[in-house]
Amino acid sequence: MTTSIGIIDSGLGGFTIYQALKTRFPQASFVFVADQKKSPYGDKTKEELLVIGRRLLDFFLEKNITEVLFACNTLSSMVLELLRQEYPMMTLHGVIELTVSKVSSKAKKVLVLGTQATISQHVYSKLITEKNKNAWVEEIATPKLVPLIEGMADDIDVDEVLEGYLRKKSGVDTMVLGCTHYPLLERNIKTFTDARIVNSIDGSIELIESLESIPTGKCRVFTTLNQERFQEQIRKIFDVNEEVELIDLEESV
Ligand code: DGL
Repeated sequence: MTTSIGIIDSGLGGFTIYQALKTRFPQASFVFVADQKKSPYGDKTKEELLVIGRRLLDFFLEKNITEVLFACNTLSSMVLELLRQEYPMMTLHGVIELTVSKVSSKAKKVLVLGTQATISQHVYSKLITEKNKNAWVEEIATPKLVPLIEGMADDIDVDEVLEGYLRKKSGVDTMVLGCTHYPLLERNIKTFTDARIVNSIDGSIELIESLESIPTGKCRVFTTLNQERFQEQIRKIFDVNEEVELIDLEESV
């Protein structure tokens, strides 16, 4: 059995999932890696993401962590299937089905926001229309948002960027945040839409609820970039003190 549930993402988006899971399952052991050194994932090629994914999974395997949640739509849409074939000894969960499961079957006009990579795969429109034949789904890439959230573009105004993306999108009843970073802008997004907002958090909680057994023990958080900076980001955004460890994935495997 796996010693912990691994969670992966390029940064703060995965932390939204980790934090929600840790709160809901206080005895469970989660190990989260924020690969901030390689952020953003959304503009990377499939080949680059495969290398990234392999490094992350090798890191978990070394720790006997064999069950991993891809708390990242970009990895889930681009390389999850390939990695499942390469790592048959692991159980790998993607976040997209979990998110789509939260879209109402009555939704008529759905707008999906995601990274360039995720949107290029059209997984959301495929899965939503499979479930709901009458839904009209528009997917738009919103590549400026992750650098903004990660604090790599401090000089840019969030609301101006959101207005640019959302201005002409009227009549939408459901807006899917197809990137785990975007719930961190949910309050801003709500000022531009009356649509019901769907993110990846509730579906991720349901996934853990559905597991036959949940490993218990200590939780750990790693970043590949700068532990003080990540700790400070977490404190500022989530108002929690989280111990963060530094990991060099290029060196570790
Ligand atoms: N949070 C990730 C996602 O859900 C990755 C975003 C990025 O690094 O571009 O897609």
